[in-house]
Amino acid sequence: MALVAPSILSADFGHLDRDVREVVALGAPWVHVDVMDGRFVPNLTLGPPIVKAIAAAAGPAVVDVHLMIVEPERYVADFAAAGAQVLTVHAEATHHLHRAVQQLRALGVQAGVALNPHTPESILDYVLDELDLVLIMSVNPGFGGQSLIEAVFPKIERVRATIEARGLSTLIEVDGGVKPDNAARFTAAGAHVLVSGSGVYGAADRGAAIRALAEA
Ligand code: DX5
Ligand code: ZN
Repeated sequence: MALVAPSILSADFGHLDRDVREVVALGAPWVHVDVMDGRFVPNLTLGPPIVKAIAAAAGPAVVDVHLMIVEPERYVADFAAAGAQVLTVHAEATHHLHRAVQQLRALGVQAGVALNPHTPESILDYVLDELDLVLIMSVNPGFGGQSLIEAVFPKIERVRATIEARGLSTLIEVDGGVKPDNAARFTAAGAHVLVSGSGVYGAADRGAAIRALAEA
């Protein structure tokens, strides 16, 4: 079974508490939270106080925070304190990726690194052994509701092969354009965690969407 992480970017921010509780009650084991700073990506979303509210609403679900912000090392402690359990920084957003990963480990959160569509997976060579999760973007980050970029599939396969060759248990998460009807392509390539925003919150039957993603 794939781990489903509904992205609250597509939720109703006026009813965030309700919308987070709903997907958890419908069986989502993770809740994905997109933090955007208007610099790393051309959009703005939310900060630690909102993550704290989401963590309270998420109950037993894993709070998965995707930082699309420059110099993430300045804020990771605040997001960990707010309740982030998985904390992912972008490889392109810091000059000192290894240091940022060490910081995440010291905070006791699950450490993730995200790659933009153009970023070669070789950037992970010297940090992969320290990671709990690799987030492979299947769209350019910043917005929900975009179509996936096909080049993501061989990339997922290569990262999965490297993880297995090294005997690691690192999770692969995919994010962007993931829907019930294409989710099996991501899991077949090697993804463990499926982020889906519009695919869950935009579905007429959100429970059915979560189940279909989980069974992909
Ligand atoms: C985009 C975000 C995604 C977004 C995905 O930058 O990282 O998490 O919510 O949205 P969908 O699933 O609609 O493509
Ligand atoms: Zn995301």
